[in-house]
Amino acid sequence: MLNFELKNPTKILFGKGEISKISKEIPQDAKILMIYGGGSIKNNGVYDQVKDALKEHNLHEFGGVPANPEYEVLVKALQFIRENKITYLLAVGGGSVIDGVKFLSAAAKYEGEPWDILKRPVRTLEGEALPFATILTLPATGSEMNSGYVISRRETNEKLSSGGPGLFPQFSVLDPEVIRSIPKRQIANGIADAYTHVLEQYMTAPSSADLQERIAESILISLQETAPKVMTENFDYDAAGNFMWCCTMALNGLIQKGVITDWAVHAMGHELTAYYGIDHARTLAVIAPSHYRYNFDTKKEKLAQYAERVWKITDGNTEEKAEAAIRKMEEFFHSLEIQTKLSDYTEDYQKTAERVEKAFTERNWLGLGEHKNLTPQDAYKIVEMSY
Ligand code: NZQ
Ligand code: ZN
Repeated sequence: MLNFELKNPTKILFGKGEISKISKEIPQDAKILMIYGGGSIKNNGVYDQVKDALKEHNLHEFGGVPANPEYEVLVKALQFIRENKITYLLAVGGGSVIDGVKFLSAAAKYEGEPWDILKRPVRTLEGEALPFATILTLPATGSEMNSGYVISRRETNEKLSSGGPGLFPQFSVLDPEVIRSIPKRQIANGIADAYTHVLEQYMTAPSSADLQERIAESILISLQETAPKVMTENFDYDAAGNFMWCCTMALNGLIQKGVITDWAVHAMGHELTAYYGIDHARTLAVIAPSHYRYNFDTKKEKLAQYAERVWKITDGNTEEKAEAAIRKMEEFFHSLEIQTKLSDYTEDYQKTAERVEKAFTERNWLGLGEHKNLTPQDAYKIVEMSY
């Protein structure tokens, strides 16, 4: 097992009715800015619950953060934070709102051009950011219990990520009841995103970190078993709770400790969102199968382990099991009504591989993947395979 450090300071308040407790978690003298998205929280009662819980606090609000949080919108919130001397941010939404708030939290105390935060090599350290918390309304990204974020900038077709130990939420409320109002398309996205988060930290090479591997496999199995229950029309609180906790556990830092991790699927997927606006999770379902086929030789042992332990495939040699595993993965995405070819999403795909190769070269991303040896030319071939 590789050496590691682990510190995750985010307090989780899990379960029905927990939103009502937030007044005790936020300092009484805080000047709070509640930040939300396009308005789903006003239709499902979450907005009213937050307002009610914080009626004794000094509360301001900023709505309209779009999916794939947009820099142009966030700089307006930043201006509000500075002008009104806000001291505490509260994200109420999915990964986009939470990521937007992390960016604002980092930018609030940063003197330079805010976009530069995403381009600088240093990350946001403890004490450098404005304190913030989250009320999660869409299980998917794990952003509610990690310190990373991803921001988009339409004018330059960029989607970049950053983070740092100073960007963990102080607390996050996970109430499975919020899942009642999520459209099935977004639930499918959440399952596919969390599933791929596990794959990015697992589908590398066999390791001696037995516990991390088995936790990762358990999350995959739980997501597979929970998926049909949360995709039906009838709301099932326990299934919703399992789905929510799987998504958080998939990317709160635990399963990446002591092992090598990949993340090339996300790097390529973010480009597809930046160029075509394809939902984040769907870009991963497009890239992942091609990525595993292209890197078959280095990943086949782990693919075979995934076949055996997660899909209970016992027939065949390592190569046959590994191939069957990739097919199972594709079938799982299809069972969520998520297509796995780029041409299913856009007719304008022919130049994508070229664009990705060029973008990675310009950004100096010359070695991606767990062995840091995937070149922009490799990315070209993987993206081309996904057409
Ligand atoms: O904006 P509103 O009206 O709230 O509607 C949202 C949005 O349209 C809706 N929604 C959320 N909760 C709902 C709901 N609708 C009904 N009922 C509810 N309870 O769902 C839509 C999508 O929301 P969004 O926040 O965009 O989705 P998601 O959570 O999938 O976040 C995606 C973003 O997170 C980034 C992605 O790149 C993307 O920008 N990621 C962040 C990561 C992280 N911070 O660790 C890791 C991920 O890999 C990912 O890259
Ligand atoms: Zn993701």
